[in-house]
Amino acid sequence: MTYKTFFKKAPIVSLKGQPVILFDGKHSSLLEALESKKVNIFSECRNGFCGACKTTVISGDVSYITTPLAELKANECLPCCCVPETDLNLKLSCKGVEVVAKRQYNTHQPAPLLTKLAHES
Ligand code: FES
Repeated sequence: MTYKTFFKKAPIVSLKGQPVILFDGKHSSLLEALESKKVNIFSECRNGFCGACKTTVISGDVSYITTPLAELKANECLPCCCVPETDLNLKLSCKGVEVVAKRQYNTHQPAPLLTKLAHES
């Protein structure tokens, strides 16, 4: 086993390019992680059956905890029954969600780690 397989980097989940979650194993599914950040996402069965949580994946890969029964296109996932396998960029709104701010190198004060996006859609 190499150190790269032993020390796997925790995937970063972004919404339309805005990083919002470091998926570090505290949540059992992508849906739980999104809900913990108060991301506006609809769900019903929470078990991969109904397709209500179907989400477009802009980039990245997921792996499924249980085999999804709802029909999916190649660029879609069911957050209720998957976890990020790589950094993930989802086509979901980050309105009102705390996002990880980009680092500012030219200031004398440290950049805040979290920024509230109140006006983004
Ligand atoms: S909530 Fe039913 S498939 Fe995700």
